[in-house]
Amino acid sequence: MSKLGAGIAITGIGSAAPKAILTNDHLSQIVETSDEWISSRTGMKKRHIASNTESLSQISAQAAQKALSMAGITSADLDLIILATSTPDDLFGSACQVQNLIGATKAVAFDLTAACSGFIFALITASQFIRTGVYQNVLIIGADVLSRWVDWSDRNTCVLFGDGAGAVVCQGIEQGDRLLAFEMYSDGSQNDRLNLTYQGESKSLVDNIEVNAGTYQPITMNGREVYRFAVAKVPEVIEKAMFRANITSEQIDWLLLHQANQRIMDAVAQRLKLPKEKVISNVSEYGNTSAASIPLALDEAVRLGKVKPGDIIAASGFGAGLTWGSAIFKWG
Ligand code: ACO
Repeated sequence: MSKLGAGIAITGIGSAAPKAILTNDHLSQIVETSDEWISSRTGMKKRHIASNTESLSQISAQAAQKALSMAGITSADLDLIILATSTPDDLFGSACQVQNLIGATKAVAFDLTAACSGFIFALITASQFIRTGVYQNVLIIGADVLSRWVDWSDRNTCVLFGDGAGAVVCQGIEQGDRLLAFEMYSDGSQNDRLNLTYQGESKSLVDNIEVNAGTYQPITMNGREVYRFAVAKVPEVIEKAMFRANITSEQIDWLLLHQANQRIMDAVAQRLKLPKEKVISNVSEYGNTSAASIPLALDEAVRLGKVKPGDIIAASGFGAGLTWGSAIFKWG
């Protein structure tokens, strides 16, 4: 148990992705598209795709082990695990499977669904448990295998998504809270922009009682509307969080956005008057990995030595719901 009102530090990070790599050229064999179209519209070159022997729980556990190792704690030290995902192995949730895989016997574990905002929402949720002194060591995982839910004959969506997992360890500290501010929003009136909906057919059980028997349907998306939403709302939510943190954009060392599209990242950076060099991006290598994309990109930047202890990061997730949010934090 940490002290009431404790601050938060992110002390470890890790990521994992399935082995198989699907290139733009591969995609041009599946649908009518080209490397040129995909690269110029999205910045994507490759994405990792999970096979039927690679589960969401497994890649989440791999990312988690790396984050624990960097933090210098063991899974037995964990109090709480939050798994942000829209694609659990089991609709009842996959966090407990991850808990079991890593042997975090003391930790309570649950899933959190907020699509591509999931990691930011989970980080903010975790911070509440730490700040109130309830938990000391929390593992936050963002992971998705959207390849399971893509319509591989729909070129509007199938070129965009990839699979992966990223994890961070957050710990309570007595002084110097590293989470400087956050903001979160939802707008269900725009829910039809991006969906992975359940559809079923009426099936009679007994007289006058029917059930809706079916399954989830592949992703549908209004790309132009999602693009417009992201470019309008993401700079706004980051500015609001910066205001709460009492910092200016000059003080931001890194812009860390959900890796949906390089053009969205460039447009947001431009609106915030941040130079391209401050934008963390690995969308070319992984595509859009939904809840995984932010920790996956941050892990790479930390391990490359780009992001250093004390650097101020403005992070933002956005996506289905619609949902969007921002967290401003100091690394390390
Ligand atoms: N290859 C070739 N042509 C294509 C492809 C493709 N893969 N996909 C679409 N096209 C065609 C369209 O059919 C259209 O043709 P038409 O003019 O004959 O109708 C043309 O290209 C232009 O389509 P647009 O939708 O206008 O293309 P746009 O420049 O908007 O780029 C894109 C599309 C990349 C999807 C863009 O709108 C975008 O990035 N939107 C945001 C998507 C996003 O971020 N989604 C995820 C966020 S939330 C989450 O992560 C879950």
